[in-house]
Amino acid sequence: MIDIDKIRADTPAASRLAYLHNAGAALMPAPVVTAMKQHIDLESEIGGYAAADREAVRLDAVYGSVARLLNAAPDEIALVENATVAWQMAFYAITFRQGDRILTAEAEYAANYVAFLQVAKRTGAIVDVVPSDASGELDIEALERMIDARVKLIAITWVPTNGGLVNPAAAVGQIARAHGIPYLLDACQAVGQMAVDVEAIGCDMLSATGRKFLRGPRGTGFLYVRRALLQQLEPPMIDHFAAPWVSRDQYRLRDDARRFETWENNYAARLGLGAAVDYALDIGIAPIEQRCHLLADRLRGGLASLRGITIRDLGRRPGAIVSFTMDGHDAGSIVKNAAGAGIIIGASDPASTRIDAEVRALPPLVRASPHYYNTEAEIDRLIELMSDLPPR
Ligand SMILES: Cc1ncc(COP(=O)(O)O)c(C=O)c1O
Repeated sequence: MIDIDKIRADTPAASRLAYLHNAGAALMPAPVVTAMKQHIDLESEIGGYAAADREAVRLDAVYGSVARLLNAAPDEIALVENATVAWQMAFYAITFRQGDRILTAEAEYAANYVAFLQVAKRTGAIVDVVPSDASGELDIEALERMIDARVKLIAITWVPTNGGLVNPAAAVGQIARAHGIPYLLDACQAVGQMAVDVEAIGCDMLSATGRKFLRGPRGTGFLYVRRALLQQLEPPMIDHFAAPWVSRDQYRLRDDARRFETWENNYAARLGLGAAVDYALDIGIAPIEQRCHLLADRLRGGLASLRGITIRDLGRRPGAIVSFTMDGHDAGSIVKNAAGAGIIIGASDPASTRIDAEVRALPPLVRASPHYYNTEAEIDRLIELMSDLPPR
């Protein structure tokens, strides 16, 4: 059982705001903020280098925490600035040639898709989008049919930026493994709201961010790379941390996933990320997932019952992102109106998930993303606010 009172006491802003924007940037719990503040204080007292030395053990433990979260090993984790950098490091490490195929899904995130396009332009590789099934999830049978010897990479987004869809990441992993195709999973919107087990999923690379459902600081992210693949992946860019300069004409890449990092880091933010992961693990990912579903289902159900509202979430079992539109009201004005009432939600633009948006002819969507620290009363406040808006 989640101790909501304690968790809300750790989240002071929760007493002022109905904060339902956890897919944007969640509210950080007190231990995360404290970890960062203490390190900044230490840096100001003894200097940045000495502070990192003094906190070396705790800094190293962050790799262990992230590894535990993912059921991975610490040497398979790289800590970087955000999910995009994590994803780019993995993607651009793969060599593509003319005619190689990249398979992705309709809900792919814009940052990833433009990188596919760039590589396609540079190399002649082909980007193929796996269609969705009737529920809106990536169609596993279609994926299986699309596999051939030219498929060099399967890269999909697990939970898209624009809604509650949860793509069948583990079923994709089975196909990738069966055919020996590298599998890069964007888990940015999944970590922190649901169980993420790289063994169960069967992905070879996974990227995620700290600030969303993990409740970590902004400017943090991480990359997982399966040990078996690590040695084959040369990072697209290196420095002398990733690859020590061992003789005048030679560098030697690190053996571990830190070959995807650089030397300089925001150590306060790293400690904040570690504290966020530990906080989630202490609560337990299973109860977090359960409560996320409870609150999101309540919100989805309540909104669906209102005239003029269309729920836009796809998939058999949507997660903690609730996307919707309301006739006669644009997403931006709904977000603004809610903020005026102390309810924080966001919007998602079609350009963030262009393929899905085109397939479904989507306008900008309102995106409300509850988390385990929210209450039923907060969910109901948003439903009530929306019920007060006149349908046009
Ligand atoms: C699905 C998805 N992938 C990747 C990202 C990028 O994450 P970051 O902003 O940490 O680079 C986002 C951000 O919204 C996202 O929604």
